[in-house]
Amino acid sequence: MKIISVVGARPNFMKIAPFIKAIKAYDEINNNIIEHLLVHTGQHYDDRMSRAFFEQLEIPDADINLGVGSGSHAEQVGQTMIVFEKVLHDEKPDWVVIVGDVNAILACSVTAKKEHILCCHIEAGLRSGDITMPEEVNRLVADRLSDLLLTPDLISSENLRREGVPENRIKFTGNIMIDTLENNIGKADKLSIAEIIKENSFNNSRNDRKKIRENIFAVMTLHRPSNVDRKEVLEPIVRFMLDEVCVNVPLIWTIHPRTFKMLDSFGLLNEIMSHKNLYALEPLGYLEMLKLNMHARVLMTDSGGLQEECTILGTPCLTLRRNTERPVTLKDHGGASVLVGNNIERLREEYAKAVKETRKPVRPELWDGRTAERCLKAILDFKETN
Ligand code: UD1
Repeated sequence: MKIISVVGARPNFMKIAPFIKAIKAYDEINNNIIEHLLVHTGQHYDDRMSRAFFEQLEIPDADINLGVGSGSHAEQVGQTMIVFEKVLHDEKPDWVVIVGDVNAILACSVTAKKEHILCCHIEAGLRSGDITMPEEVNRLVADRLSDLLLTPDLISSENLRREGVPENRIKFTGNIMIDTLENNIGKADKLSIAEIIKENSFNNSRNDRKKIRENIFAVMTLHRPSNVDRKEVLEPIVRFMLDEVCVNVPLIWTIHPRTFKMLDSFGLLNEIMSHKNLYALEPLGYLEMLKLNMHARVLMTDSGGLQEECTILGTPCLTLRRNTERPVTLKDHGGASVLVGNNIERLREEYAKAVKETRKPVRPELWDGRTAERCLKAILDFKETN
């Protein structure tokens, strides 16, 4: 059996790593019957957004890099389809496996199905209900086209049933990102927070800073277009962080390239870089981010994956979004996260509560570190019934 799996952007890498390990383990005892090729679309190309994850998570180099890079969504998707079609012609795989919700899954599911190749989506069925999110468009298309839909939780399985997906195509396998968390938590724990800051600061020449202590700092990541692309939205968030969070606890902000560009163009960067109690870091590796999450008093984010990691680690999480495709991570469902949108009043109110909370780790069903094995088994067991 020949499988091509596809990655494109940062959040894909922690999802594909355990899947590739599961294939390797299976092949070792089954005479290498699975031939696997890894395709990287090249959407994320910086060392810090891509290479670092391959190294830390021991992902083998991509067999094929489509070299798509930055661009508008249509450019990224169109370019991926053009080059990926050639890959499928040359390689003739039995399966294309896609993970998560980035542009690669839209491009590659369409291309695979037009070539009559089976497509499996790992992390299927998530729905934010917000069609203005590029990732929601990607999820809807990929799930409509995929033959095998592997879901991280039962709410996602139910979403698919509601959309009319036949039962034989849906399989609840659990959250594959938690495999990576379990595989790496020991390594992350050995890192030093002071070193992480020193190695990754934009402004590391500064020596006027207080020392950071475990459980006495906040962490923030932001990258969604809805939060960072407009000054009237981003500036009040920055003001809240500088004027209210940073007077209370040190804030570690790992700044995504999209956000960096926007902060610069809105003239907000200098104040951030020069603030005494704000540690502006470049995008971090997986282990470094995990270490910060393990010891943060509160984490503020618009990332999907971090909401899940906060749930497992019990870190109080303020999600700067109005909705989430991951309701199991919400406090209402027993998780660690609260939706605050980009409404500063709500952020203030929930922040005041979150800094007083203690960690409450929660483990949703099948977030047990064994999801990749179940995903591979589902592919091997899949029977088409047309
Ligand atoms: C993408 C994903 C999003 C994911 C996020 C994590 C889609 C639709 N979005 O959003 O789901 O949560 O990645 O990071 O697929 N850039 C660099 N270096 C890089 C990569 C990007 O400088 O290595 C710049 C690009 O030039 C662009 C900006 O960052 O200006 C945004 O990159 P883009 O690929 O458009 O989407 P993300 O916002 O990263």
